[in-house]
Amino acid sequence: MKVSVIGSGNVGSSCADVMAHRDTAHEVVLLDVKPGLAEGKALDIWQSAPIDRFNTRLIGVTNDYTATANSDIVIITSGLPRKPGMSRDDLIETNAAIVKSVTENVTHHSPSAIIIIVSNPLDVMTYQAYLTSAFPRTRVLGMAGILDTGRYRSFIADELNVSPKDVQAVMLGGHGDTMVPLPRYTTVSGIPLTDLISNEKINTIIERTRAGGGEIVKLMGTSAWYAPGSAAARMAEAIAGDEKRVFPCCVKLEGEYGLENVFVGVPVILGKNGLERIIELNLNDEEKQKLKASSDAVKEMMDVLDRLQIKNR
Ligand code: 2OP
Repeated sequence: MKVSVIGSGNVGSSCADVMAHRDTAHEVVLLDVKPGLAEGKALDIWQSAPIDRFNTRLIGVTNDYTATANSDIVIITSGLPRKPGMSRDDLIETNAAIVKSVTENVTHHSPSAIIIIVSNPLDVMTYQAYLTSAFPRTRVLGMAGILDTGRYRSFIADELNVSPKDVQAVMLGGHGDTMVPLPRYTTVSGIPLTDLISNEKINTIIERTRAGGGEIVKLMGTSAWYAPGSAAARMAEAIAGDEKRVFPCCVKLEGEYGLENVFVGVPVILGKNGLERIIELNLNDEEKQKLKASSDAVKEMMDVLDRLQIKNR
């Protein structure tokens, strides 16, 4: 199993570190455009192998895609992160050009890979990679739902003073202000969340989750990396181990949830083929309406991308 991580900034290197520590793959290749960065990060992580006891070989390269050849999984984290005051959508033009060029290189050297997109704006960049790669939708996935539910679950764990391990949740929609957490499908070890906290508290948690990325940007002046890196690593692990994990991921909908040709987060099963199945929940009217609004917001950004004419396919 070979996994390449394109972009060795904070998110990419954090993701590679988590995968190495969990021995997700035999080999993890880190690539970056900045000379020496990926080499240095790979060497640093590799030097923790004897200390933390893992086997994963790490290779760092400067823009040399031949080193990524025949990767089973490629995680794309390239692009600019947000600065305070920016929305993820403000990054569209710059990051689309970057994701397009990266995807061309990736597909050329690893034509059978499963691509996981982490670059923002997430749903639209997943669309860009889908257009450029010409891969089937089963092999182009976006990481957002695991991060967003991670935030939501951690806030619930804080509120109830329970282990975050026991909080389970699913989320729908785009990776932005319109994301749709689903309290009806949130449990603490099987106990419905709605039996444990008032609606008012749940709404406060949902609002904080929606703004969760921005909260971190405000604090640090740049966007998050530990939780995004771990979330992408989890997706790679599920695919590498053919685990059939059920995660909310950004995928192309082709009629599921009544939505066509839009990239949004829905619960899916991840295994060796990438997207193995989309799980369709029985949503009530309010949930359907929120998902539609979120999908419309993503679609608007997909239209912006179309107008920029960066695409292929
Ligand atoms: C976040 O939500 C980076 O989009 C990512 O923190």
